[in-house]
Amino acid sequence: MKKHNFYAGPSILSEYTIKNTADAVINFAGTGLSLMEISHRSKEFTAVIEEAQALVKELLEIPDGYSVLFLGGGASLQFCMVPYNLLNKKAAYLETGTWAVNAIKEARLFGEVDVVASSKEANFSYIPKGYTVPDDVDYFHFTSNNTIYGTEMRFDPDVKVPLVADMSSDIFSRPIDVSKYDVIYAGAQKNLAPAGVTIVIVKESALGHVERAIPTMLDYRTHVKKGSMFNTPPCLPIYAALQTLKYYKELGGIKEMERRDLEKAAILYDAIDSSKMFVGTAAHEDRSIMNVCFVMKEEYKDLESAFIEFAGTKGIVGIKGHRSVGGFRASIYNAMPKSSVEVLIEAMKEFEKNH
Ligand SMILES: Cc1ncc(COP(=O)(O)O)c(C=O)c1O
Repeated sequence: MKKHNFYAGPSILSEYTIKNTADAVINFAGTGLSLMEISHRSKEFTAVIEEAQALVKELLEIPDGYSVLFLGGGASLQFCMVPYNLLNKKAAYLETGTWAVNAIKEARLFGEVDVVASSKEANFSYIPKGYTVPDDVDYFHFTSNNTIYGTEMRFDPDVKVPLVADMSSDIFSRPIDVSKYDVIYAGAQKNLAPAGVTIVIVKESALGHVERAIPTMLDYRTHVKKGSMFNTPPCLPIYAALQTLKYYKELGGIKEMERRDLEKAAILYDAIDSSKMFVGTAAHEDRSIMNVCFVMKEEYKDLESAFIEFAGTKGIVGIKGHRSVGGFRASIYNAMPKSSVEVLIEAMKEFEKNH
């Protein structure tokens, strides 16, 4: 049976990415060796990482003066690397979910943290508005897409200080004005590659202004200087990332990805809004186009596990909501075909008719 993969991460990757990576695991670039057993300094792999860096720059229209890094350690390591490298005295953070909470906790190890607003009191079901970011902070950090709660900031905030964003779950789903940012980081395991690599876009002139000593591996300058080759990079995820980037380019680039993502999200939210059984959990104006969170209305609540089971009979996997929200979460990242979203909508309609 065809599977429809709605997992939040690691999550669906394009067939193009999986097939080409599988081929390279057997025989990489005609070398007769597996991608997993060849030197990262071979000319074949050097070409891969350089092309991947160039494609990120091209697709996101990154201006001069920025480096694209491929690092290990997950997005969670960036919660610490960002303040290590950028926080001198004070930074502003927006608290919009679990990942923002984790980022704030790390930043507090390095200096003063001004949490400018939080939606914690409403279980992070909306994005705070009307907050003020002080002019005297080193940067303003936000999570562009809150994977667990299904809220998203699909814009680059207008503030007087440099931006830093965790874009782990929505990078490559909209054009970004990179010039407003000191750092953009994203774990790969949503819109890019298998887990194991984190993409970091860093403004070179923002580095070198903190007074503390930075351990070599945690210093962005190390990786900028060595083109992410200071130590052995995660070769296989980087190769897979290159396939995904090529695939995005072939399809028409980021604007085309956004068009598709908006379309998929619109039909699913329409189905939720017109249902008598299901209801969305995120504030309408802040709804994510990557993670669609919904629950059953109070009178149907005890049918939630039955629906997950029913969906399973249609090949639908990964729709159980995160434990802190409950209900369902349909993650519909770039690689998710519209046809799979339609299968989910049909399953919702059929289940509703039968109950
Ligand atoms: C928005 C966001 N930030 C950070 C993380 C943590 O990423 P990692 O597991 O790569 O450290 C996740 C993981 O799901 C996420 O969704």
